[in-house]
Amino acid sequence: MAEFDEEAVRSDVEAVFGHRSKHEGPEKYQVNDKSSIKHVVGVISGKGGVGKSLVTGILATELTRKGHKVGILDADITGPSIPKMFGLSGQHVLGQDDKIVPAESKGGVKIISTNLILQNENDPVLWRGPMLMGALKQFYEDTLWGDIDYLLVDMPPGTGDVALTVFQSLPIEGVVIVSSPQDLVQVIVGKAVKMAAMMDVPVLGVVENMSYMECPDCGKRLEPFGPSHLDEIVGEFNVRDLGRIPIDPRVAAACDAGTFESELPSGLIPDAVETVEG
Ligand SMILES: Nc1ncnc2c1ncn2[C@@H]1O[C@H](COP(=O)(O)OP(=O)(O)OP(=O)(O)O)[C@@H](O)[C@H]1O
Ligand SMILES: [Mg+2]
Repeated sequence: MAEFDEEAVRSDVEAVFGHRSKHEGPEKYQVNDKSSIKHVVGVISGKGGVGKSLVTGILATELTRKGHKVGILDADITGPSIPKMFGLSGQHVLGQDDKIVPAESKGGVKIISTNLILQNENDPVLWRGPMLMGALKQFYEDTLWGDIDYLLVDMPPGTGDVALTVFQSLPIEGVVIVSSPQDLVQVIVGKAVKMAAMMDVPVLGVVENMSYMECPDCGKRLEPFGPSHLDEIVGEFNVRDLGRIPIDPRVAAACDAGTFESELPSGLIPDAVETVEG
């Protein structure tokens, strides 16, 4: 299989944009002077609904369990799902001076999300580009994060304005890509890998979600979405295998019930957690 040619992608970008420097963008966001963030890591995928928010939640929970100070910036401005997972439905963030105090989960994860701003979290967010960008900037710059070891950015699906701005304006150190066995290797995961390469952001590796499930009766491994493609992906794009997550109805139920943090079994994707830790 052909190797992924990062250099070729870069020269494509250069041809289009006429430059190739790191994080080139209109503006670099600066965190406020009451906060300090050591590492910013993004969670992306080539398409929606594959488990970005789940992986963000697992990483946040496991890093917190290991004693790190963790924040989540829910950059899925129009489709936020992090507060609900962490049992913060119906909560609102407060202002302090002209800054925002993030919500905090029971386990101590600091969270900022549109759902914590809206009067009614079930209202649709009908914002256009400038407002989306304004929200993203405020979430990063105006949140009183305090001292954070790892700020995880849960990305919106696709390669739209917000995703590009996250890459250009936030000091993203690397991204974790989430895939599913349904993804056509070259097309869907390729999009995510190429987006990262175009933005000059390192890919930390790929987590395959919904890889298999265990029959509750006989324990046999079933592959409802077909066989795993993770080995192929790793070979094709020269990225690290960060683990496979099974389909588990209890996980979906815990996300809905807001009990995710306390019910998450340990050691689901240890390689992913260790890779983010660096
Ligand atoms: N391994 C799994 N087992 C059971 N349910 C899962 C699993 N992974 C994800 N889900 C469920 O599938 C839905 C989509 O997952 P999630 O919200 O994490 O995807 P996403 O990539 O963030 O979606 P979006 O692109 O809309 O932001 C959620 O309801 C989640 O609870
Ligand atoms: Mg999501």
